[in-house]
Amino acid sequence: MIWTKEMLEQAIKEKMGDYRFIIASNREPYIHEYSGKKIKCVQAISGLTIALDPVMQASGGIWVAYGSGDADKDTVDKNNKIRVPPENPSYTLKRIWMTKEEVNGYYYGYANCALWPLAHIAYEKPLFDAFDWGYYETVNRRFAQNILKEISNGKSFVWLQDYHLTLTAKYIKEKRPDAVISLFWHIPWPNPEVFRVCPQKKEILEGLLSNDLLGFHIRYHCHNFLSTIELELEAKVDWEELSVVHQGHKTLVRPFPISVDYEGISTGAKSVEVEKAMQGISDSIDPPYEILIIGIDRVDYTKGIIERLKAVERFLEKYPQYHGRFVFLQMGALSRIHIKSYKLLIDNIQALAEEINWKYGEGSWYPIVVKNIRLDYTSHLALYRAADLCLVSSLHDGMNLVAKEFIAASVDKKGVLILSQFTGAARDFAKEAILVNPYDSEGFADALHMALELSPKEKRERMERMQQILAENNIYRWAGKFISNLLKLE
Ligand code: F6P
Repeated sequence: MIWTKEMLEQAIKEKMGDYRFIIASNREPYIHEYSGKKIKCVQAISGLTIALDPVMQASGGIWVAYGSGDADKDTVDKNNKIRVPPENPSYTLKRIWMTKEEVNGYYYGYANCALWPLAHIAYEKPLFDAFDWGYYETVNRRFAQNILKEISNGKSFVWLQDYHLTLTAKYIKEKRPDAVISLFWHIPWPNPEVFRVCPQKKEILEGLLSNDLLGFHIRYHCHNFLSTIELELEAKVDWEELSVVHQGHKTLVRPFPISVDYEGISTGAKSVEVEKAMQGISDSIDPPYEILIIGIDRVDYTKGIIERLKAVERFLEKYPQYHGRFVFLQMGALSRIHIKSYKLLIDNIQALAEEINWKYGEGSWYPIVVKNIRLDYTSHLALYRAADLCLVSSLHDGMNLVAKEFIAASVDKKGVLILSQFTGAARDFAKEAILVNPYDSEGFADALHMALELSPKEKRERMERMQQILAENNIYRWAGKFISNLLKLE
């Protein structure tokens, strides 16, 4: 059975009854920004918001998130609310505000310098700062207060998102133990030996266990979480049921592999606008090429961009017959740039690309083009569709939706996906994608060669199989499954 937006809409209407549906995340789905004196509305670059936006469009609930845009305050009503998406308003976005100190401590500090590296184990040391933790608590409490206002006197399902909001459920339950609360963890959960160094581990785990349902992408992360609980808390872990009872409260722990709107993306990729944008791609890339290899990421050290460049370098060394024939286009959307390791990464990527280009460039040809710009949706789809190869080389990734978007947009079925074995997505496409270990340049270079040498028939067959898997396991199925689990808890 293929889940559709309409089916999800119907299921929610039928089953939710008079419950309010409230989602909360740090990142907001739509950001208002000043462009000169005009205000423009842009979609956030985040797997989380892109995946949940169609779900919210189907459910019509309330999404509480931090208003990060410089024009956000000027576009909301007196309750800090705005209907979105702008072109077809179907749900309410409620923005909450933070001071610069709070953003610095809670978001840049505790969430992204402590929890992010802790969970990803990409060899970036986590930094735990007591002041950052204080801001993290304050902001989590603010989320809870805002959600409580929305719950008011009614009945609600609350769906929290990600590592920014580990304490929110606890603060809500203190006032409203009857609210049904869940959290989906969008990044990996590390093994207990890694997690144990966190000075605030007890508070974080107790906060998470205030949820009634906890979702991770894959079973492996559920197991890591349960092992962490066994090691750190006095709680009863049931490995059969995948649940934890702590201080009399039960939390169900379940895998829900997140996905994308397969139908929406593939329909979009066939549009006239995308076809027009595809025609402009070669003009926008300086070196001449016959084979287009792409990488599209938020510039983050967990994405393995440096490792990807090293693999391209090794490929150039090993397979000189490809010199002059391909270009590798690395598109990066900048994020978290106030964090030193992110700033450094941007420079390191640029420096390595220049070095490789200098070594291998001949005449007007050079192999690597790095662009740090944020693409609009149409250009995104055009690039996916035009690419012969897409490289996803994360050192560790909860799922990785770029891989899934590429599959959905590859309507000509000529593209090949090279996928890190350390992504959640690798479990879905273990046979059809070409799996690599990003730390192994030698194997990665050979994988590039193998991918380029596949016959058009094999490329098509692999892509068709991946598309079938994705069509069945789309974002509506993910949301439908999560929500049905949530409803069983009322
Ligand atoms: O999926 C992981 C995640 O951290 C999301 O929580 C987040 O929205 C996305 O990556 C982008 O990160 P940020 O919101 O910090 O730019």
